[in-house]
Amino acid sequence: MTNTATNTATSASPIIATPISGALGAEVTGVDLSAPLDDAAYDAVRGALLDHCVLFFRDQDMTPPQQLAFAKRFGDIHFHPHVPGLPDIPEIMEILKTDKDARPFGVGWHTDQMFLAEPAMGTMLYAKEVPDAGGDTLFTNLHRAYDALSDGMKRMIAGLRTVNLADAGRKIAGANPGGGQYGGFNSMALNKRDDVAAETEHPLVRTHPETGRKALFIGLHTERFATMTTAESKPLLDYLVDHATKPEFTCRFRWREGSVAFWDNRCVLHNAIDDYRGKRRRMHRITLKGDRPV
Ligand code: SIN
Repeated sequence: MTNTATNTATSASPIIATPISGALGAEVTGVDLSAPLDDAAYDAVRGALLDHCVLFFRDQDMTPPQQLAFAKRFGDIHFHPHVPGLPDIPEIMEILKTDKDARPFGVGWHTDQMFLAEPAMGTMLYAKEVPDAGGDTLFTNLHRAYDALSDGMKRMIAGLRTVNLADAGRKIAGANPGGGQYGGFNSMALNKRDDVAAETEHPLVRTHPETGRKALFIGLHTERFATMTTAESKPLLDYLVDHATKPEFTCRFRWREGSVAFWDNRCVLHNAIDDYRGKRRRMHRITLKGDRPV
C-alpha cells in the first residue's frame, strides 16, 4: 500500500487520496459521487481503494438513486440476507439507531457477511444523520496484520480454515439484550431467516483477488477452526483478533452529515463504536457482491 497522496487527472478535477493514518484509509477529494463517474475517475477511485483499503469522501449530496448508480459502477449489488432495504430502493439498507435501541448495528470487529460462502466485496456507507459527537467507525488493515506475524506463526496458520456463524454474537455477549447478533434492535426491521447457511468455512489466510496480497481473514463471525472444537480454537482465535486490531493497524473515521466511507471487505475489518446512547444516527448502506475467498 502506498502512503503517499494519489493525484490522478480526470476530465473534471484532480482526484486526490490523502492518507488519514499510517495503516489504512484515505480521504478522497475531487470527486462528486452524485454525478456519473467517467472511466478515468472510476480507475482513480478503484486504484485508491486497492492502495488504501478504505476511502472517505466528505460533503457529498446524493439521492438514493445516485448512490445506487455510484455503487453499481463498482460491481453488482449484494443483498443482506437479514436486513431489508428501503421500500423503493431495496439495494439500500438503512442503518438506524435511535433512543429506542440498546446498541447500534455493526458493533464489534467484522467484515460484512463473512457468514456467507461469498461475503460482500465492498461496502459504501453514506451518513444522513449523525450525533454531535460519537458514532465514529474504526477500520483495521488485515494485510498489515498478516504481514506483521512471525514466519513461524505464518507457517502454523497456513492452510487453516475457519467456521463462521451468522448469529455468533460471541464477542458481543452481554451487550445484546435481545440475544444473538441480530437481537436487541427496535428501529431496524431485522429478519432472522432459516434458509441462510448456519455455518460457512473460509481460509484463515485469504489472498486478495486483485492485488495478490495475503490478509488475515477473521472477525466476530469466526467461531472456530474447521478441524478443532470451539474451546480448542479460542486461544489462537482470540490472539489473532487482538493482534489484527492493534492500534497500529487501524484508523478511525469521524462522520459528518454527507460523509461516505467505501471499504474493501476482503482486507478490512470495521467496528461501529457504541458511544452515543440516546442519540440518533442514520446511514444508507450499499454492499457489493463478492467472490468465494481463496
Ligand atoms: C456496518 O457494520 O456496516 C455499520 C458500520 C457503521 O454504522 O459505522
